Amino acid sequence: MKFSWTNVDRPIVALAPMEGYTDSAFRQLVKTYAPGVICFTEFTSADALKYNSQVSKNKITIDKLEQPVVVQLFGKYPEHFIEAAKQVEQMGAAAIDINMGCPARKVIASEHGSALMKNPDLAAEIVNVLSNSTSLEVSVKTRIGFANFDENYFFSFCEKLVAAGAKLLTIHGRTTKQGYSGKADWNPAYELKKRINIPVIGNGDVDSPESAVEKLKNLDGVMIGRATFGNPLIMKSIYDTFYPGKKEDYPLPNWFELAKKHIDLSVKTKGEKRGMIEMRKHLAMYFRGFPNASEYRNKLVRVETRDEAFKLIEEIKEFASAQN
Ligand SMILES: Cc1cc2nc3c(=O)[nH]c(=O)nc-3n(C[C@H](O)[C@H](O)[C@H](O)COP(=O)(O)O)c2cc1C
Repeated sequence: MKFSWTNVDRPIVALAPMEGYTDSAFRQLVKTYAPGVICFTEFTSADALKYNSQVSKNKITIDKLEQPVVVQLFGKYPEHFIEAAKQVEQMGAAAIDINMGCPARKVIASEHGSALMKNPDLAAEIVNVLSNSTSLEVSVKTRIGFANFDENYFFSFCEKLVAAGAKLLTIHGRTTKQGYSGKADWNPAYELKKRINIPVIGNGDVDSPESAVEKLKNLDGVMIGRATFGNPLIMKSIYDTFYPGKKEDYPLPNWFELAKKHIDLSVKTKGEKRGMIEMRKHLAMYFRGFPNASEYRNKLVRVETRDEAFKLIEEIKEFASAQN
């Protein structure tokens, strides 16, 4: 059945798009234990896809376990989005999200990402052109403002996106200027939801099932990002809290098995060399709170092969159990 945001169970529990983290291996890991979670891919340049960049194409590896997966694109040229959308549809995207929230200097300098908040006409044109050229639903992830939160500006920007055809909005409760500092303010998203008739997902600082429940309020869903670092199973805890009836079907693995499974998925999707390089940061985060963590961290961030990593994990396991 064709994916539509209208048909996704409420509340929607979404894994945030995070460059360098939410790759296919990570998404498969999350979906193994929480199949009801909706995963967003890392952002991919519409320009690069248009110009046939193999690196960008490789970024959009999608396994059927991840479905329905939302592919996030960034850029500023409507025609490039059309071409990129054709490609990602063929690659298995269930829906397309447009990044209008990235605060990175390089991205903004090219008038991509959250710079589009300063150009509502172009932002709406991209949504409109894309919505009319693909059969996939188009959504937007954005922030509450660029330099500051101006209520009227924010609502009118979002209403323009809705009028242009956006089928869902995700609101990260910070301005671009804030980057990732300060506390996310979800109030603009709650107010927005009262004014528009498409689903709204809130995002920012969800770090536990309790905070997910507390922040949801009148919204259609919550999106979780950084709290998944070194703890992908938080997606399961949050999903299970909202959907307790489905819990037993997907039991929790033990921590060491989880890390090994992640390694295997990373090696399977990217090959051993690249896969292990990608895994280093994840492994360091998996074992943050373990005894002798800093010594192990130094080793984990240097691992080169799957075997080496598995041996190290066994060592950590034995050391941890000897401490108990
Ligand atoms: C390392 C990193 C990479 C990110 N990459 C993206 C991205 O590709 N696209 C996007 O829309 N947001 C990206 N974000 C923002 C997150 O999706 C999310 O909006 C933000 O982290 C706030 O949510 P959180 O408090 O749950 O982490 C990124 C954030 C981090 C920390």
